[in-house]
Parts: sequence; structure tokens; C-alpha cells
Amino acid sequence: MLLDDSLRGTALVAGLPGPLVDVGSGGGAPGIPLAHALPGREVVLLEAEGRKAVFLERWAPANARVVCGRAEEQETDWAGAAVAKALAQPPTAAEWCLPLVREGGAVVLWVGPSADHAQVAAAAARVAGELEDAPTGFLVIRKTGPTPPGFPRRVGVAKKRPLA
Ligand SMILES: C[S@@+](CC[C@H](N)C(=O)[O-])C[C@H]1O[C@@H](n2cnc3c(N)ncnc32)[C@H](O)[C@@H]1O
Repeated sequence: MLLDDSLRGTALVAGLPGPLVDVGSGGGAPGIPLAHALPGREVVLLEAEGRKAVFLERWAPANARVVCGRAEEQETDWAGAAVAKALAQPPTAAEWCLPLVREGGAVVLWVGPSADHAQVAAAAARVAGELEDAPTGFLVIRKTGPTPPGFPRRVGVAKKRPLA
């Protein structure tokens, strides 16, 4: 079930202090269930499509705010954790999420069994990210330093020319 799937990430993000951003929140998964599960946490629901952002405004709990925009156009190095489910192919999702996270924080991606860990690790390394051990169904990428110069790349580039 969709709710259970979102909540599977609670323990992973609970250990990453600081604002939590759900990148490509869409209908609110996993950000809205996580915001309910962690009521003391500041949650940002980041969504590129205006229509979906309006929907999110209706359902966001008090500790969550909606930002309508693309990951590549946001400020960098502020979130304690970035989560994403079904955002893009994992190397692209990692490239979009890592710049948002501050040093010491982490990106948590919900992934399917076919996710290529080595490919994600190679992409992440370009954006100061290092793959860590994670439960099945997740990739956890630690942000090991500030966002390197040149990132985020221009809108569209991460999908057209993936880093790995
Ligand atoms: C397939 S939906 C997944 C929605 C939700 N996370 C879920 O699992 O149900 C992907 C969402 O990401 C949004 N999106 C795609 N690229 C984005 C970007 N670069 N920045 C922010 N949102 C993006 C899309 O508008 C879409 O709503």
C-alpha cells in the first residue's frame, strides 16, 4: 500500500536532522506521510508542476510547506535529507537531490530491484555523494562535502546527459 511504502523510510530520515525535502512530491508520497510521522520536522514538498503543487497545498500538514519549482533551480546545501520516489532514473534523481542537501545529510531514494548501485555511486561521486548500506528498496547517499562548482546543471541536462 502507498502509505506503508512511504512510511518504510521513516527510520532512515529520522536519523538525519534538519529540513526534509521530498523532491517531485506529486501526489504527496513519500513527503506527506513522513511529515505526519515526524510532526516536529520541517518538511518541504517540492513539485515542478503547478497543478500538483495546488493539490499538495490542500493536503500538506502544518509542518509541511509546498514549493512549486524544479530541483535544479532551488538554493543548494540546506536540507538535512532529501527523499524521492519515482522521480527519475536513480542516477538522475541522485543528481537532482544531492545539491539540495547540506554536508553530512543524505539523499534517500525509493528504488526498484533493477537499480544499478554502481551506476548511482558513480553519478553521486560527481556531486559529493557516497553510497551507504541501505535496506532493500532504498538507496542512501551521504553528502560528503559542499555541492561542487557546476552543479546543479541546467534544467534538462541531467536527464539528457546522465553523469553515469
Ligand atoms: C512519477 S511522479 C512521482 C510522484 C510521487 N513522488 C510518487 O511517488 O507518487 C514524479 C514527479 O516529479 C516531478 N518532477 C519531475 N522532475 C522534477 C524536478 N526536476 N524537480 C521537481 N519535481 C520534478 C513531476 O512533476 C512529478 O510530479
